[in-house]
Amino acid sequence: MSYETILVETRGAVTLITLNRPKALNALNTQVLADLTQAFAAFEADPAQRCAVLTGSGEKAFAAGADIKEMADKPAADFFLEDFFAGWTSDLVKKVRKPWIAAVNGFALGGGCELAMMADFIIAADTAKFGQPEIKLGVAPGMGGSQRLTRAVGKSKAMEMCLTGRMMDAAEAERSGLVTRVVPLADLLEDALKTAETIASMPTMAAMINKEMINAAYETTLDQGLLHERRLFQILTATEDKVEGMNAFVDKRAAQWKGR
Ligand code: HXC
Repeated sequence: MSYETILVETRGAVTLITLNRPKALNALNTQVLADLTQAFAAFEADPAQRCAVLTGSGEKAFAAGADIKEMADKPAADFFLEDFFAGWTSDLVKKVRKPWIAAVNGFALGGGCELAMMADFIIAADTAKFGQPEIKLGVAPGMGGSQRLTRAVGKSKAMEMCLTGRMMDAAEAERSGLVTRVVPLADLLEDALKTAETIASMPTMAAMINKEMINAAYETTLDQGLLHERRLFQILTATEDKVEGMNAFVDKRAAQWKGR
């Protein structure tokens, strides 16, 4: 399958998706959304693929935001009638049950920061810069930034970043809990792919359920979340991989996962 705005390749059980509009700093337009939606659906549907990495082409940007040129002359009624950005906030996050990582290789601004935050976690290059500068365009985040940034870094920092439009560098992003770690730009892809391979080597259902449990922490009360976690844990005990994993430990041998 070939796409207009992204590159997709598989490396073993890992799908690598690269935003590929480097001249526009990988700005996110409607075509990128269509391509990404299709690529993630293909990843999700392929049982041989167990983890994905999303990154940006070029050294400068992961994505510098929603495509301002596409939005500049768009009438307000069209934003509403098309429910502009709805595809970004619902499909990409909620429909992908398998794990995926954002490897942020430069600017992740506006929609770019929001897209990175949709990932299960972010690995950042030391050159990465995160921000929600929409206020400087007379608008505000529209793909989840006001919600996910606040949950990730807390109200004070999220509020300051959205109200001033300032960028956060990679070190601050790591300190603030926005990213899991920072690596030199030259090592970013290798690090992200290696991490994805580790995840892909885990029992599939356990990986999917770990992801579902943690995401539930955003949506529920502690009591509901703890119950949800317990029920999902109990479901996992019915898998062949649970039997294999525990027996392999007892027998002191490597587990042979079946993925079910
Ligand atoms: C369209 C973009 C773009 C964007 C960069 N480009 N960002 N095109 N949409 N978001 C284009 C530039 O127009 C330029 O194209 C080329 O990419 C290189 O960018 P430069 O500005 O020349 O590079 P540089 O001087 O290095 O500055 C880098 C930058 C700057 C700091 C990242 O590009 C920038 O501030 N971009 C906009 C960031 C932003 O505001 N993002 C939020 C968007 S709004 P040409 O053809 O001129 O060479 C959003 C959600 C909105 O994401 C929600 C609304 C409801």
